[in-house]
Amino acid sequence: MYDLSGQVAVVTGGGGGIGREIGCRLASEGMSVAVLERDREAAERVAGELNGFAVIADVTAVDEVGAAVEAVLARYDKIDVLVNNAGICWTGPALDMPLDTLRAMLRVNVEGVFIVSRAVLPHMIARRAGSVINLASWAGKTGNAYFAGYSASKFAVIGLTQALAREMAPYGIRVNAICPGIVVGTAMRAALEAQQRQYGLPQTAEREKLIPMGRVSIPEDVARIAAFLASDEAAYMTGESINLSGGLLMD
Ligand SMILES: NC(=O)c1ccc[n+]([C@@H]2O[C@H](COP(=O)([O-])OP(=O)(O)OC[C@H]3O[C@@H](n4cnc5c(N)ncnc54)[C@H](O)[C@@H]3O)[C@@H](O)[C@H]2O)c1
Repeated sequence: MYDLSGQVAVVTGGGGGIGREIGCRLASEGMSVAVLERDREAAERVAGELNGFAVIADVTAVDEVGAAVEAVLARYDKIDVLVNNAGICWTGPALDMPLDTLRAMLRVNVEGVFIVSRAVLPHMIARRAGSVINLASWAGKTGNAYFAGYSASKFAVIGLTQALAREMAPYGIRVNAICPGIVVGTAMRAALEAQQRQYGLPQTAEREKLIPMGRVSIPEDVARIAAFLASDEAAYMTGESINLSGGLLMD
């Protein structure tokens, strides 16, 4: 357990999958959690589960994000931790990837992280404290076949993480990324399985054999690292991109 009581977190894409689990973990550590989601029903359900606050916004919509951040500040008065978790993924042969699909991944995964960070950081700067946690991926460190657009977007997330970490360090704000490997039990993973079947690509069970630790991961694995990065236990860490892949990726 970390001492996070009395602190406030915003978790984007917190209505399901990894984001939901991170929100639940942070709430169990005593934080007030705002679930920033484009899916109203999911946001309200999870906010109810963790006794938090649902704010409805698409991370790519500047006005919606601005209003959502103001609503969080009106409710809780501050934001200590921002988890940029909302993301989308498409897998398939690079040459079959529709341009609009590439653009959508860059918009949500890269612009979305920037737009929400830009809305939240001035408030952290004013308090000279904060922790930003970006969900990248192991695909953000190595260009995996059949993940061209997604890899490009997650490499960008790591670049953004490092640049913001350097700019924000003088204000006492830490910016780090988590790079999960294969996380099951999420809507994204289910959609990827369907796409892999469609293109005759290796399924999760086959890819699992490549993982040195012998198992894929679950959202709780990611939530544990997010709680650590949110806490003062990580007080001297910034600009890191932490691999969380059971050894699939080592660097
Ligand atoms: N599942 C994996 O194997 C895996 C591996 C590495 C990294 N990641 C990353 O972790 C994050 C979460 O993944 P997941 O598997 O839980 O995905 P998911 O699809 O299960 O959940 C994503 C959530 O984000 C929300 N969302 C999507 N686009 C949004 C937008 N434009 N605005 C607001 N909300 C939006 C969705 O409604 C959903 O609730 C993503 O950034 C993903 O790239 C996932």
